[in-house]
Amino acid sequence: MKFSKAKIFQIFSIFLLECVASEEWFTRINKDVENNLNYDKTVSIDSFSKKSKLSCLQICLSFESSCQFFQFSINKRCTIYSALKKECFHGENDIYLRRKKLPRIHFVNGSFVERSQLLNSVSFNLSRNEINLIAPFVFANSNRTTTLDLSFNNLTLIYSKSFYGMINLKTLNLSCNQISQLESDVFKELPSLAILHLGYNSLRYLNGNIFDNLQLLKDINLEFNQIESIEKYTFKNLNKLERIYLNNNNLKSLEPYFQNLESFIYLDISFNQIWFVHNDTFKSLNKVKILKIYMNQITEINSEMFRGASGLERLFINSNKIQKIDENFTQNVANLIHLDISKNNLSLIAPDIFNNLARLENLKLDFCNIKEINLRAQNLSSLIELQIYTNPLGNLTYPLITSQNSSLETLAISYCQLNYIDLNVLRNFTYLKKLNIAGNFLTLSNDTFNGFKSLTTVYAKKDDVQRFTFLYPNITFIIS
Ligand SMILES: *[C@@H]1O[C@H](CO)[C@@H](O)[C@H](O)[C@H]1NC(C)=O
Ligand SMILES: *[C@@H]1O[C@H](CO)[C@@H](O)[C@H](O)[C@H]1NC(C)=O
Ligand SMILES: *[C@@H]1O[C@H](CO)[C@@H](O)[C@H](O)[C@H]1NC(C)=O
Ligand SMILES: *[C@@H]1O[C@H](CO)[C@@H](O)[C@H](O)[C@H]1NC(C)=O
Ligand SMILES: *[C@@H]1O[C@H](CO)[C@@H](O)[C@H](O)[C@H]1NC(C)=O
Ligand SMILES: *[C@@H]1O[C@H](CO)[C@@H](O)[C@H](O)[C@H]1NC(C)=O
Ligand SMILES: *[C@@H]1O[C@H](CO)[C@@H](O)[C@H](O)[C@H]1NC(C)=O
Ligand SMILES: *[C@@H]1O[C@H](CO)[C@@H](O)[C@H](O)[C@H]1NC(C)=O
Ligand SMILES: *[C@@H]1O[C@H](CO)[C@@H](O)[C@H](O)[C@H]1NC(C)=O
Ligand SMILES: *[C@@H]1O[C@H](CO)[C@@H](O)[C@H](O)[C@H]1NC(C)=O
Ligand SMILES: *[C@@H]1O[C@H](CO)[C@@H](O)[C@H](O)[C@H]1NC(C)=O
Ligand SMILES: *[C@@H]1O[C@H](CO)[C@@H](O)[C@H](O)[C@H]1NC(C)=O
Repeated sequence: MKFSKAKIFQIFSIFLLECVASEEWFTRINKDVENNLNYDKTVSIDSFSKKSKLSCLQICLSFESSCQFFQFSINKRCTIYSALKKECFHGENDIYLRRKKLPRIHFVNGSFVERSQLLNSVSFNLSRNEINLIAPFVFANSNRTTTLDLSFNNLTLIYSKSFYGMINLKTLNLSCNQISQLESDVFKELPSLAILHLGYNSLRYLNGNIFDNLQLLKDINLEFNQIESIEKYTFKNLNKLERIYLNNNNLKSLEPYFQNLESFIYLDISFNQIWFVHNDTFKSLNKVKILKIYMNQITEINSEMFRGASGLERLFINSNKIQKIDENFTQNVANLIHLDISKNNLSLIAPDIFNNLARLENLKLDFCNIKEINLRAQNLSSLIELQIYTNPLGNLTYPLITSQNSSLETLAISYCQLNYIDLNVLRNFTYLKKLNIAGNFLTLSNDTFNGFKSLTTVYAKKDDVQRFTFLYPNITFIIS
């Protein structure tokens, strides 16, 4: 009987040592120990008389998540600490730091909150608390929480298991921290997550598996980081994903990051440095309705650039460096309703370029250095608004679009260096309501606005406004 008891103890202690070797590490503290646990107070939990350092260590482990340090003094006193002020760290004190991060929320000022102090509330708002570390498992009991707001804190690294146990979490806001690193399976145990905010941090790359298993995720916000690389298919198999915000990052190319996104409708990648767009990028994105790719470095739209994006309705590709547009690019995006190509360097609009766009209602081509434009042959019967201001057009004598059945209501041709304009071209737009012709070299005669059927608002030079206001009481003239 006695023998077997001793054996059990032996086995137990071997097990414990292995356990120590694989999971638990203790470091003897000296002045040089670099650690990020900067406690503002000393909390000692208990003190015992013990024969050896090892039994003191075992006591520490038995306190589980409240023992962060133990001290074994020369007179064989074993003391267990939950927190220790930095001033207590002298080599000669024989204090050992437990490497394991205990489940706590740490603040910049050195205080902390333990898991047992956290309520299992539905909504947790920890925004603006100067939190600098969330240790793994701290929310393990927060299984009722659906919203966790950690925005405007001082987090730099998010450990995996940080959100372990939050099986009902739907909204997680980590925006406005200084996060530069996400451990790869940090979001793995969040089966209900729908909204993830990571904007305004310092992320540089995205690991390909970071969003795996988030079957209910709808929105990912990554705006205002420094992301320059994303692994292929990082955004894959997310059946409910609708929106990705990647604006204001450092992406230089757009590759096939997106695959099997059945519900995907919105992508914002504006304000990056994208100059290359892979022909397969939009291959499987036939549900995407809105694409914002403005403020980048794109020089050309080739025929395959938007291949697959057949559901696209609103394309913002303004403020790039586009000099060339393939006449066939619109074959892939025939459902466009709104197209903004303004602030590029096009020189010329080829005659067939918008041919496929029978649904197009709004076309912006301002600030494009266009010297020649002819939309006559194009089937733009739905076009309601055309902005071509600030282009060196010279004169306008040809039918801008096939005018008989045009729906055009708003036309901006201000600052186009126009010397001459055939007003009958404009009078033929039966529904034209709003016209901006300010800033040209034209001399407008008193009968300029006779014969317009629907005109209500005209933007013009100050002198003209005074004169025409008197002559055309039914039209509002506005100084532009
Ligand atoms: C948390 O509180 C801040 C104000 O401190 C507020 O702006 C924010 O909307 C709150 N978050 C949630 C999820 O309600
Ligand atoms: C440290 O900061 C937290 C959160 O901002 C605050 O609740 C706590 O009272 C502060 N502690 C001290 C000692 O100032
Ligand atoms: C949450 O955890 C408590 C205690 O562990 C458990 O009794 C309860 O069933 C859990 N609730 C849910 C919704 O999982
Ligand atoms: C903590 O973050 C806040 C806003 O997120 C910032 O204003 C503050 O300077 C940061 N403090 C430290 C010590 O980094
Ligand atoms: C964090 O994001 C959530 C979800 O969009 C939002 O409700 C909350 O207001 C945000 N917090 C702050 C401080 O803006
Ligand atoms: C993309 O398509 C265009 C037009 O067909 C082609 O010229 C170009 O070589 C293709 N790019 C790649 C990388 O395959
Ligand atoms: C555009 O496509 C048509 C056929 O759809 C083809 O005949 C034509 O050559 C293409 N144009 C260019 C510039 O590739
Ligand atoms: C615009 O394109 C022309 C060639 O079509 C080029 O000579 C000029 O430098 C470009 N301007 C800018 C500002 O890039
Ligand atoms: C319009 O411009 C063309 C070429 O720039 C020129 O030949 C023509 O005389 C101009 N027409 C008028 C009416 O100014
Ligand atoms: C205006 O429309 C009529 C037919 O509706 C057409 O005959 C005429 O050429 C058009 N004028 C201009 C300048 O487009
Ligand atoms: C144009 O109208 C103004 C204001 O009614 C008038 O003073 C002027 O004589 C008119 N000019 C001509 C050429 O009819
Ligand atoms: C101006 O409007 C009035 C009614 O609002 C209408 O009777 C009149 O015919 C209009 N005049 C012109 C020149 O369109």
